[in-house]
Amino acid sequence: MDQQTNDSLAAVLAAHPPAPGALLPLLHALQDSLGHVPPEAVPAIAEHLNLSRAEVHGVISYYHFFRQQPPGRAVLQVCRAEACQSRGAEALLAHAEARLGCTSHSTRADGAVTLEPVYCLGLCASSPALMLNERLHARMSAAKLDALLEKEGL
Ligand code: FES
Repeated sequence: MDQQTNDSLAAVLAAHPPAPGALLPLLHALQDSLGHVPPEAVPAIAEHLNLSRAEVHGVISYYHFFRQQPPGRAVLQVCRAEACQSRGAEALLAHAEARLGCTSHSTRADGAVTLEPVYCLGLCASSPALMLNERLHARMSAAKLDALLEKEGL
């Protein structure tokens, strides 16, 4: 485990004392800090919360939100929940895959971008929606997505 991971993990563990329900907030905090939840952190998290490694790993793999690998330099999240699906989210995601050259849930080989599905960004009335580098974008189309990606050099 590198120093940054070690320091972030120590800070997150200190901020989340063992208590029922502590695992999810702890995992969120660690991903916020590092961009992902490193598999090598699982033993320390399990020990800290008095859980088995399998329980911690099970939660990390159940929630698609948690990344086990560092993301690319840019992160594009396309909403696939119901309202967005009814307004063309699947076609938008397919367009993003073709344009970026990586599939959903993956990072492009050059590390420039990670493409992820998400399930509701709170913009249902303005769907389809997506988030690029933590910034929300509503009423998207393939052309608007291309313009956004162009600005990011993607
Ligand atoms: S369903 Fe896509 S933002 Fe809510």
